[in-house]
Amino acid sequence: MTDSLGQHLQKSLHTIKKANWYRQEQKITDLSGCTITIDGQRMINFASNDYLGLATDIRLKQAAMDAVERYGTGSTGSRLLSGHRTLHGELERAIASFKQTEEALVFSSGYLANLGTISALMGKKDLILEDEYNHSSLKNGAKLSQAHRIEYEHLNCQNLIEKLIQVRSQYRHCLIVTDSVFSMDGDVSPLPQLLDIAQKFDCWLMVDEAHGTGVLGKNGAGCLEHFEIKSERIIQIGTLSKAVGSLGGYVAGNKVLIEFLRNRCATWIYTTALSPADTAAALAGINIIRSEAHRRHNLWTNINLLKELFNQTNLKIFPSDSAILCLPLEDASQGLLISAKVRSHGFYVPAIRPPTVPTSRLRFSLMATHEINHLQELIKALIQ
Ligand SMILES: Cc1ncc(COP(=O)(O)O)c(C=O)c1O
Repeated sequence: MTDSLGQHLQKSLHTIKKANWYRQEQKITDLSGCTITIDGQRMINFASNDYLGLATDIRLKQAAMDAVERYGTGSTGSRLLSGHRTLHGELERAIASFKQTEEALVFSSGYLANLGTISALMGKKDLILEDEYNHSSLKNGAKLSQAHRIEYEHLNCQNLIEKLIQVRSQYRHCLIVTDSVFSMDGDVSPLPQLLDIAQKFDCWLMVDEAHGTGVLGKNGAGCLEHFEIKSERIIQIGTLSKAVGSLGGYVAGNKVLIEFLRNRCATWIYTTALSPADTAAALAGINIIRSEAHRRHNLWTNINLLKELFNQTNLKIFPSDSAILCLPLEDASQGLLISAKVRSHGFYVPAIRPPTVPTSRLRFSLMATHEINHLQELIKALIQ
């Protein structure tokens, strides 16, 4: 006889707990910036994706409040029916200008942008090559597309080329998909080499700039700007929920790509449009990223300082070229223990464990608003 649903789920939860993979929400009770209050304990926050500190910026808050006053809270329908406001168009033009593309399309989240775009572009006769450490939304988008999927070794262009030589000719279209900054490692994809490979093997290249936008590039536009590369083959994708300080996702590319997605992308067509408040806050966030370079400079000062402080210890972090630094751990139980200890010293640093990542690690994400003593005290706590 098969288990009841309850029994089956209890068994699975038991296995998850035994492996130290069990996860729970943290109860945050105040404004979350570079400090955070969880369950009444105020701590320095090293877990936020709000890299530039914009999520609590008065101008984003005011833009959101003005949008609520003008348009109400919900957007009341999908973009093609009753959900489109002039604000959405303004935000899309701002993203296209920021990303130097003809057009952009805004989604209700980055996850939906990734799921929908990949599955709209690719089909059963096509091939998707993905970095093995790509974000869940990219992997699930590829699954949903029903294209043939192959993972190549993390950042390994030679391995990608070998796979392409073996199978490229058997498929119609081919899409290479990669995070620009890997969210759980902090390293950066070799985009110039990937573009060369895409050209050589007639592939498109999709780059998820979730953790690159606002952090990398001369104007904060991301990794593509950092490497100064542009191509009709590239599809840029990203989120408005990290350095931009709001919520939502986007695709940026040429006119025909965006026109196609407006007509074929299920996660854009069949869902309620991004709320007016989130849309207005994202627009304000992008304008600030473009006009206030000092925020990015402060962030990089903090990144370089924390790396330097780690260098002076025997704590060896993963190589990183971003605001994400990771300290490898033996296993999940060590991760939980160290995270709890550091927390007792007043620092919130989550342990990232399987199945999110293959091996456990402490993940530090830096903000422009961290102060020097936050970083120095963090290192002291880690050494203890
Ligand atoms: C690389 C990457 N892509 C996509 C997403 C999804 O973005 P969103 O939070 O807007 O759904 C995330 C994080 O959440 C991410 O880290």
